[in-house]
Amino acid sequence: MNEDFISTVSHELRTPLTSIRGFSQTMLASWDKLDDESKKKFLKIIIEQSNRLINLVENMLSVTKLQDAKDDIIFKEVVIKPVIDMICSIIKNQYPDKSFDVQISALNILADKDKFQQVMTNLIENAAKYGDYNSKITVKAVNIDDFVSISVINKGLEIKKEDCEKIFTKFSRIDNPLTRKVQGSGLGLYITKTLVEKMGGQIKVKSENGLTTFEVLFPASNIERQARVKCKQ
Ligand SMILES: Nc1ncnc2c1ncn2[C@@H]1O[C@H](COP(=O)(O)OP(=O)(O)O)[C@@H](O)[C@H]1O
Ligand SMILES: [Mg+2]
Repeated sequence: MNEDFISTVSHELRTPLTSIRGFSQTMLASWDKLDDESKKKFLKIIIEQSNRLINLVENMLSVTKLQDAKDDIIFKEVVIKPVIDMICSIIKNQYPDKSFDVQISALNILADKDKFQQVMTNLIENAAKYGDYNSKITVKAVNIDDFVSISVINKGLEIKKEDCEKIFTKFSRIDNPLTRKVQGSGLGLYITKTLVEKMGGQIKVKSENGLTTFEVLFPASNIERQARVKCKQ
């Protein structure tokens, strides 16, 4: 497993590095011959590929951390709305064409706040990344028994039934024109699923009628649960 991981990682690292080196060498060697437009284009590629490397390294560190037995989960009561609102505003900056509709009518959850944030960032980022241009992303949270169900819904190219399990494994990206156009390491959903399960939750995906929904279930916070039972009585 580890050797596999190292060889995949080396390949993933080499691709952007080769491109950064190639474009810098070309610029240096042909500086006087290149017009400003071309120079700008090359620099843009260098920045894009550097971002890809940073992203990859960050994701790989997360994967390593998942295997670290000392990386405990610190369960606390988490109020979900402010976390989700903050993530949406960060992602809106990166994807200004997207609009966000956040509907939270759920109790607080019991989770590790940082890890919850990482999970929601991955899902909302994917929805923005793979969603149709100028489309809306909906984030909904409702209570289901002792759990809080949070759904992230986007309009866009569907994930085929046969790919619905595969996308949660390491380095898996679906081969379609859309995925080829946007960058990614294929580690996000693997990290997300592992974190959700570590926190006693579940993740599900549904993709039909042009809508893709990723649903995560987290245990509702005990304090809130007790309060709700009291209200019912
Ligand atoms: N909201 C979505 N809509 C369509 N496809 C998606 C969506 N989220 C994830 N995918 C598919 O699942 C793959 C794996 O996702 P992920 O693990 O986050 O990796 P990455 O985003 O780095 O490619 C993506 O490459 C994409 O093909
Ligand atoms: Mg992703």
